Amino acid sequence: MKLPAILGGEPVRREPWPKWPHYGPEVMEAIQRVAESHAYHPMFGGETEALEQAFAAYHGMPHGVAVASGTLALQAAMAAAGVGCGDEIIVPAYTYAASAGAAVDQNAIPVFVDSESLSQGLDPEDVLRKITPRTKAIVVVHVNGYPCDMDRVMAIADEHKLSVIEDCSHAHGALHRDRKVGTIGHLGAFSLQHKKNLSAGIGGIVITDDETMTENMRAWRNYLLKSVGHNWQTSEFHSAIAHAQLPFLDAMNEKRRANVAALLAALGEVDGIAPLPGLSNTVPSYYNLILQYDVESWGVPRASFVKALNAEGIPMNMFYRPLQRWPIFTEANMYGRGCPFSCPLNEGGPVDYSTVSTPVADAICDHINLEVKVQPTSGEREMQQIADAIRKLSAHRSALASV
Ligand SMILES: Cc1ncc(COP(=O)(O)O)c(C=O)c1O
Repeated sequence: MKLPAILGGEPVRREPWPKWPHYGPEVMEAIQRVAESHAYHPMFGGETEALEQAFAAYHGMPHGVAVASGTLALQAAMAAAGVGCGDEIIVPAYTYAASAGAAVDQNAIPVFVDSESLSQGLDPEDVLRKITPRTKAIVVVHVNGYPCDMDRVMAIADEHKLSVIEDCSHAHGALHRDRKVGTIGHLGAFSLQHKKNLSAGIGGIVITDDETMTENMRAWRNYLLKSVGHNWQTSEFHSAIAHAQLPFLDAMNEKRRANVAALLAALGEVDGIAPLPGLSNTVPSYYNLILQYDVESWGVPRASFVKALNAEGIPMNMFYRPLQRWPIFTEANMYGRGCPFSCPLNEGGPVDYSTVSTPVADAICDHINLEVKVQPTSGEREMQQIADAIRKLSAHRSALASV
């Protein structure tokens, strides 16, 4: 077997990785149309409303509310669900910080739960352990595009009268029992940020079938409507870009799935590497393909493996850490006055995140997950190269232990 690049061999790939997001003539046409309209703000044009209708229709839902980011989509959804001062919100520890940061901006207290190991979504049994009389809502995250156990979450939510907000920022078009995610909970929130499966560069959108929640979110997003609220609005450019890409979303997700199949076929059996299975009756959207790395079997720290993979010309970035380890929670002092964590309105008393225990999420973040890019701008050649690189590294395990 050839020598790994990090040990002086030839890299598997020398040219840059294909760029994401993709754009076609429809995106150029959309940008030009908005520029020529001189209506860049949603109050003056029709692009944002058109995106909302198309995105809601794609999901078979009556309402969509577009905002300036996925974080704001979550915040709007939480506000619509009545989340406020002193309320507790259950959030998985394994996700991006925004899933919980949005709650903090609503003056609510995120309560972190562990992951289950098939989808790496939140563990319903840990949800049950963490519910208190102050719990108001559950945020589920279909992390990396693998739908989580919505049957169990909805049953728990019904029993305890909790709202469920689906954070679908990684999972546009993913299916749970043939239903699109975002339509199963009470509200579905999506990021349209540049890395996402549906990308406007920046932006977010909420879907729901609840008319009152929709009206409220629209009012809060634009303080002119009821003289209360914020400016959470997006721009006509971003809406037009997302709308132009929406008809291609399913085909782009299919390409991701084809890439996953090609990669796994090319990889074959490699000791100490196993794809995340996902839950049965789900169809992931593969924001990332998750390969699970067994550090014991390799005898190589994951960071060294990733460094060696990068040297082969294969991109792989940093990993998430459990949210209780982010400074916003370790310091629990976001705006310098202790709120909401030590706010007198928090009847649960000051929160100390150092005692939170999420062993499965810790292992996922610290040494298990390899997040593999399968974006539709790449194809069989790139998948073959990823497989070749992993197999090459596998043949040189002992030499890689100290890179
Ligand atoms: C799971 C998840 N939720 C929410 C967000 C927030 O989205 P945005 O960056 O559009 O605010 C992100 C990241 O971008 C995310 O990865």
